[in-house]
Amino acid sequence: MTGKGDAGERKQGIALVIVVAVAENGVIGRDNELPWHLRSDMKHFRALTINKPVVMGRKTYLSIGHALKDRTNIVVSRDLSLVLPGCVIAMSIDAALGAAREDARKRGVNEIMVIGGNDVFTATMPMADRLEVTHVHASPEGDVFFPPIDAKVWRETTRVEYPKGPDDDAAFAIAAYVRR
Ligand SMILES: NC(=O)c1ccc[n+]([C@@H]2O[C@H](COP(=O)([O-])OP(=O)(O)OC[C@H]3O[C@@H](n4cnc5c(N)ncnc54)[C@H](OP(=O)(O)O)[C@@H]3O)[C@@H](O)[C@H]2O)c1
Repeated sequence: MTGKGDAGERKQGIALVIVVAVAENGVIGRDNELPWHLRSDMKHFRALTINKPVVMGRKTYLSIGHALKDRTNIVVSRDLSLVLPGCVIAMSIDAALGAAREDARKRGVNEIMVIGGNDVFTATMPMADRLEVTHVHASPEGDVFFPPIDAKVWRETTRVEYPKGPDDDAAFAIAAYVRR
């Protein structure tokens, strides 16, 4: 999808891919929910993540409310007693990525998808190989933000603009970035 810049090719290993939808003001969440309804982007998210390991923070799991079907759900939490149906719990980012790597190998896929929220994005962005970003053309109020995408570090490889569909709150663009 991202052409010759694909991190899987670059590292010949399992790529760490961040998947995020971010508003023009950097907002990604509000009151532990998404601040918009974007049905078109949900389909895109599913297509990107299906049959792969997905790594998320406990609050993102709660905001979704259930394990995502046909994916290995790996949830990071420091809560030793946490049990979530259909999920692997990891006590650290390293443990989560280790479990995800093992799962990717078992599944025969070459990507680990990191799906949020801020805590987990912030911790994994320095290690990520690719960013799959939905740029939502809106500036909603929010309380969770995506770290800035530093153009000195990340090179945009694709960008496609989409009009607001019937079940979308806003128009959006889908862009991919790889490390320079
Ligand atoms: N727009 C998007 O693409 C997108 C994507 C994902 C989420 N979101 C939104 O973002 C919000 C949730 O994000 P958030 O940043 O508040 O929370 P989060 O990153 O989803 O979860 C934070 C929790 O994860 C655990 N955690 C984080 N770092 C850890 C580490 N290094 N080791 C062990 N556990 C760790 C902790 O759980 P414990 O407290 O249990 O220890 C922490 O409280 C929601 O509003 C959601 O809708 C938006």
